[in-house]
Amino acid sequence: MSDKILLAGVIGAPIAHSKSPLLHGYWLSRYGIAGHYVPLHVEQMDLEEVLRMMPKMGFVGANVTIPHKETVLGLADIVTDRAALIGAANTLIFRSDGKLHADNTDGFGFVENLRCNADWKPEAGPAAVLGAGGASRAVIASLLEVGVPEIRLSNRTRARADALKDEFGAKISVVEWVHAGDMLKGARTVVNTTSLGMHGQPELKVSLDHLGSDAVVTDLVYTPLRTSFLTRAAEKGCQTVDGLGMLLYQAAPGFERWFGKRPEVDDATRQFILSA
Ligand code: ATR
Repeated sequence: MSDKILLAGVIGAPIAHSKSPLLHGYWLSRYGIAGHYVPLHVEQMDLEEVLRMMPKMGFVGANVTIPHKETVLGLADIVTDRAALIGAANTLIFRSDGKLHADNTDGFGFVENLRCNADWKPEAGPAAVLGAGGASRAVIASLLEVGVPEIRLSNRTRARADALKDEFGAKISVVEWVHAGDMLKGARTVVNTTSLGMHGQPELKVSLDHLGSDAVVTDLVYTPLRTSFLTRAAEKGCQTVDGLGMLLYQAAPGFERWFGKRPEVDDATRQFILSA
């Protein structure tokens, strides 16, 4: 039906803080698409039933966020390789054949943000990754995919970093959290995946003494946009890329699948989100 209003949303608990409805709403109105994108507060015990009902209610797809990103894999009929590798999904498609398709675009968003906002050559040298939580998994998987030769990984809780090394293999080495600054020597890509530096959290105090000016440094934290970690890296002469772009780029493939238009991630989009 050509006059059908397309419906999508984001499923999580809590969900009120999510910027996804703002972003998709902005793109829908910018491109004049007859669609809606809504926040859906869904508890774990209701997830399966909600996913079964959504296509019947006219939803063409959804984003998934905390705490459902891992659980949803077990409920999907089709899981993309990258979602399986990361062990989590953030983008769902309710296919017309009734099958639930689960993908993960976090790694794509991470890589696209660096590619579009820096002169970044992932193969040029080692990457250093701070943090070994859920976000780190997507970062590590995508760094390996784009050909970084080596990943140095450090996390306050060492066991989580060791588990990622066991899973992702020989290119990963684990560095004690107290020595995290040492792994920046010679690194060409440096990523903060921890929540340190976010509004209300302590600062990321890792020493940048060994950081060379040829590193591209990025922070997944985007509240504030310029974390003190990025400011310190810029003072060392590094290219720095803030984390807002990852949020914007990870959303683009879902929007295109559901609403039929590849949205632009440009300054107008950034400004809209920042001012909202
Ligand atoms: P996400 O999905 O955003 O990665 P997460 O899985 O809760 O969230 O991971 C949060 C990351 O921030 C972890 O690497 C965590 O370190 P631990 O594994 O030791 O918990 C890190 N982190 C959070 N608070 C921290 C702090 N005060 N000091 C050091 N690392 C911290």
